[in-house]
Order: sequence, then C-alpha cells, then structure tokens
Amino acid sequence: MTGVGTGGAPAPTEIAEFAERARSALSTAVWDFVAGGSTEPGPGANEAVLEAMRVVPRVLTGAAPVTTRARVLGGWARAPLAVAPMAYQCLLHPDGEVAAAAAAHDNGVPYVVSTLASRTLEDIAGTGAELWFQLYWVADEGRVRDLVDRARDAGCRALVLSVDVPVMARRPRDVRNGFRLPPHVRAALLQNPGDEAHRAGAGSAVARHTNALFHPALTWDHVERLRNWWEGPLVVKGVLDPRDAVLAADHGAEAVVVSNHGARQFGAAPAACTRIGPVAGAVAGRCEVLFDSGVRSGMDVLRALVLGASGVLVGRPVLWGLAADGQRGVARVLEALRSELAEALTLAGCADLASARELRAEGVRP
Ligand SMILES: Cc1cc2nc3c(=O)[nH]c(=O)nc-3n(C[C@H](O)[C@H](O)[C@H](O)COP(=O)(O)O)c2cc1C
Repeated sequence: MTGVGTGGAPAPTEIAEFAERARSALSTAVWDFVAGGSTEPGPGANEAVLEAMRVVPRVLTGAAPVTTRARVLGGWARAPLAVAPMAYQCLLHPDGEVAAAAAAHDNGVPYVVSTLASRTLEDIAGTGAELWFQLYWVADEGRVRDLVDRARDAGCRALVLSVDVPVMARRPRDVRNGFRLPPHVRAALLQNPGDEAHRAGAGSAVARHTNALFHPALTWDHVERLRNWWEGPLVVKGVLDPRDAVLAADHGAEAVVVSNHGARQFGAAPAACTRIGPVAGAVAGRCEVLFDSGVRSGMDVLRALVLGASGVLVGRPVLWGLAADGQRGVARVLEALRSELAEALTLAGCADLASARELRAEGVRP
C-alpha cells in the first residue's frame, strides 16, 4: 500500500490511516494507553530501526505467483501473522476481543488472548478463531492453574508465557492521565472483588492493579512447571538476550517471541528487531523465533523474516483497526499486512517465505 504521492512524499499506508482514524475516535486517555511507552516518545525506535533496514532483492527468479502461507508452531496460517496479546480491547470497541478474534479468523491467522482480556475466553472461542492463550503468572498459583485449565477447555492451541512484566513499568502518559478502566471494561478472566483496584486512586490505576496481581519474581522453574501442565506448544514472550532464548529452548519451549513489549516495559531495551538475528543464531533451530514490536507494514513482516523470524505478532495496528471500525477494521489491517507482504515477496523475487529467509539484510546491527 505504500506509494509515492505527486509531491514525492510517501503516501500514507492504509494502516497509517487506521492510526489516524483511531486517534480521532478515542479519548486522549485511551489513545495514550495504547500509544504510550515506558519512555517517550514510545515505540518510535522500534518502528524507525525496522524501517531503516534495507533488504537486497533477487531478480530473474521466476517467483510469481507468490504464497504467504506460513507454518507457525506446527500449524498453517494464511500469513506469518498472529494478533499479539493485548489487554482490555473493550476500551477500543464494545465487542473488544470478540471482534478482533473474528477478524483474525476471517484472515486465517491465530489470535492470542491476553490474561487481561475484557471478554471471556468462551466468548472469544465462539468466533472459531485459532486461539493461543497468553499467560501472566499471577501471584496466586491456584489461579494460574485455573487459567491454564480454562485455556485448554476453550480449545487454545498454544500457551504464551509473557516474561517481561515483573512489574508494569511506569508509563508517563498513563500516570499523567490518571488512567483507569471505565465501568464497562473489566479483566473478564480474573473476576475478583480485589481486582477493582484498577478503577481507584491517583496515578495509573491499571498499573497498580497489575502490580498487585502479578508474580514479580518468576524463574525458569515456573516455565518448567508450566511445561508439565501444558501439553501443547509453549511460547516464551519477551526475550531479547540470546542466552534467555537458549534457556527457553532448554526448558521445552517450542518458540520465543523476541519483543520489548512495544517499548512499554524496560526503558533501556534495544529496538527489538536488532535482537532477532542474535536470538535465531543462538537457538539454531531448536525453537521457533517469533517477533513483535514495531511491525507496521507487510515490508516490516518481510524484514523480520529476513532477520530469522518465522512469524510476527501484530500489536498496535490491530487496536487501530478495532477502534476505527471494529471487526471490519481489524480484518482490513490484517489483510493489508498480508497483501503488502505478498507484494514485497514478489518484488524481492521470492515465491514463498522460505526464499525470503535467504535474502540479505543491511542496516540492522545488534
Ligand atoms: C494496549 C496494549 C496492551 C498490551 N497488553 C499486553 C498483554 O496483556 N499481554 C502481553 O503479553 N503483551 C501485551 N502488550 C504487548 C503486545 O503483545 C506486543 O508485544 C506489543 O504491542 C508489540 O509492539 P507494537 O504494538 O508497537 O508492534 C500490549 C500492548 C499494547 C499496545
């Protein structure tokens, strides 16, 4: 969708247009909750470093038509995409997670349900989407086991343990806005009167709620326990150091997600795309390498594949589509990413994702 306008400036992509529509549809506090990071100006470095990466195309490969079909975690998807786990999607649209998962289903890609989803797992499963469940390990281990059992019962195919939130980082915009959930939005999988903390007090009430709830000191023993409770694919999300990726593989993870949480957690973390290569090199095929943080176009998806990822999780763009036009908006965002990827593959002389991985990259240094 990228093009050059008459003045020589790049035309806005359809995805960028959804960002603009979301910004006008949302209150400042909700826009800031989505857009903000632990340092400002937020996720800009992830996007900029990714976009600066050059990929050297091949020619005369006879590579058309191309396919974007992807094998991810042992299943097939229409494109190497999944919707990233993101909390409280009813903030963006009344149908929240149900609309976003239905759009993922329409596009033939998996949807990752957050522990902080604002619709129940059962409602989301009703869309027929392939679901993965993202686990935040809450302090009460009985509740962790309940969540895992519920995910299994709802038919989730994979379990994604997020490991980069020992505490929720201080996010300046949320603190400034005194961000709290409105009455119609709740952590639907964590009902408990104590959880009402996310509506009260000064500063970011959502951060206070999270910090009261989450286990702050997880270790690889927790991953090992989870490995024993969960038979399907296990994914460790939020890895940047290759040593941690190797440990994840050692503890039985089928995949890691190279991610800096969209620049929402550890403020000094590098742009996440710079870590794909080192992580992929270190695990050397022992587990899959997925990626998120800054993907805004099909070309970005191609860049991640070239660096060694087998798929990407789509974060904020999904929320922009959801805020702008519900299920239809998310479906259009996902379809734009897929068709942009198909165009990028064609122009780079690649018939499929395997040949994309053979391309050479310039401009991303760990
Ligand atoms: C509003 C919002 C809520 C999020 N909630 C969660 C969550 O509940 N669990 C999780 O593992 N990651 C969460 N994330 C992080 C995303 O899964 C993903 O890592 C991040 O959005 C990628 O960055 P990008 O959106 O800039 O591409 C959230 C991100 C956003 C923007």
